[in-house]
Amino acid sequence: MTEKKVLFTIFGATGDLAQRKLYPSLFRLYRTGHLATSFAVIGTARRPWTDEKYRAIVEETIAYLNPSEQEAADFSSHFYYQAHDVTDTEHYDALKDLATKLDTKYQLEGNLLFYLAMSPSFFGTIVEHLKSQGMLDSNGYHRVIIEKPFGSDYQSAKKLNQEITNVFAENEIYRIDHYLGKEMIQNISAIRFANNIFESMWNNRYIDNIQITIAENLGVEDRGGYYDKSGALKDMVQNHILQILSLLAMEPPVAFSEKEIRTEKIKALESVRVYSPSEVKDNFVRGQYNAGHLAEEKYLAYQDEPGVADGSTTETFVAGKFAIDNFRWSGVPFYVRTGKRLTERGTRINIVFKQVPVNLFKAEVGTTCEQPCLDPNILTIYIQPTEGFSLSLNGKEVGPAFNMLPIQLAYRNSSEVIENTPEAYEKLLLDALNGDGTNFTHWKEVAQSWRIVDVIRQTWDEDTAELPSYAAGTMGPQAAFDLLEKDGFQWIWQPDAWYRERNLL
Ligand code: BG6
Repeated sequence: MTEKKVLFTIFGATGDLAQRKLYPSLFRLYRTGHLATSFAVIGTARRPWTDEKYRAIVEETIAYLNPSEQEAADFSSHFYYQAHDVTDTEHYDALKDLATKLDTKYQLEGNLLFYLAMSPSFFGTIVEHLKSQGMLDSNGYHRVIIEKPFGSDYQSAKKLNQEITNVFAENEIYRIDHYLGKEMIQNISAIRFANNIFESMWNNRYIDNIQITIAENLGVEDRGGYYDKSGALKDMVQNHILQILSLLAMEPPVAFSEKEIRTEKIKALESVRVYSPSEVKDNFVRGQYNAGHLAEEKYLAYQDEPGVADGSTTETFVAGKFAIDNFRWSGVPFYVRTGKRLTERGTRINIVFKQVPVNLFKAEVGTTCEQPCLDPNILTIYIQPTEGFSLSLNGKEVGPAFNMLPIQLAYRNSSEVIENTPEAYEKLLLDALNGDGTNFTHWKEVAQSWRIVDVIRQTWDEDTAELPSYAAGTMGPQAAFDLLEKDGFQWIWQPDAWYRERNLL
């Protein structure tokens, strides 16, 4: 394996993301040899840390990976700290001097990777200064990784994109959606395009509906301040959910390459119907959690979480139905839901297939089962925490009668495999080092996702009706169940049912 020669400059180096995700991911890349001797990291933020302090923090963040003392020290010796005010031009000069010094010391060949992991309001200022202060004059490549949120609506995203593209070309910009680095999200393409039984049926002739659930059992934790301004729609639907939807809905690319996959994802997103306000009311519901409990565990109401404004009307739950207006998907609802403080943590995709055209196994006349009593075939893709997939089929129950029985063919990654699965950020960092933007979002995807989401947001902002609520620990407000019921469907994954049956909810 050839090691990568690169200087990382991390803006927001003292922050939560850097500590929880970036340093451990860099360390894993170090362990696997992708980073070895020729790399350096400049961490910048406002706090006046020294290199020693910075290195000690970096070592703390990787402690759970059990490095030896020597290994941790060798790794952290590549880290340098530069206190920095992103609006002050002179600070960029200091940054440039340090970058030049490190380039010589570690022989980095002028390769620069900038990571913007701080308040998006500074992204534009930072990239502008990188250019004006000559930080991008080196000979190697110049790439920038940008954390979400990329804007807060279409207009602000467009402005931000303009600022960034004034400095970096589209193929130098890596907009992060960490879901795209997840093992089982990447597996969607494998399942679809390596199995003829699925791809040949992947359309409105055979599929009844598709369900995407990203459920979290955590509340807003210490992110109340950010979340209260964002809400579930912008925090999860605009990015992660629409990205998953585009991977499920896209046409097969002509090659498994960045360019071809992106082209198809963009087309898929452009086929998602942008609703009118009245369609939003029919097809999207939201909710906010009240106090609740799950078995012995008691939860606060969202309104009582730290950082949340009094009387906040921010939604902590969204469920909705997307329509895709193209030949493949016309008439197939894509139901999505996501929320905080739900019953269980889990991201799952359910592909629900249509029933057989004639049910030969109808129950005898006079019983309640007049309709086809068969369960639908369902392909479930488990994204997390379980990783794997299952297919439910109907078979005959053993015995003299001809009774149907749903049977599950299931494959789950073992806990050992899951343990060794590269973290999403590790994969994405490596992709960016390799110059591969496949698992990052192109501007056109971001733009279209905002267009889809903006009308939902605007409709809700103008809606004076009271915000529906749900008890913490449940799977969202009743309206989220009604949404499918009125179409004759139901959510396939109902982790709350188990608790309700036992009176624990
Ligand atoms: C982030 C959201 O993008 O994704 C968080 O801002 C959310 O609110 C998180 O908790 C979920 O990510 P994961 O990887 O834990 O499913």
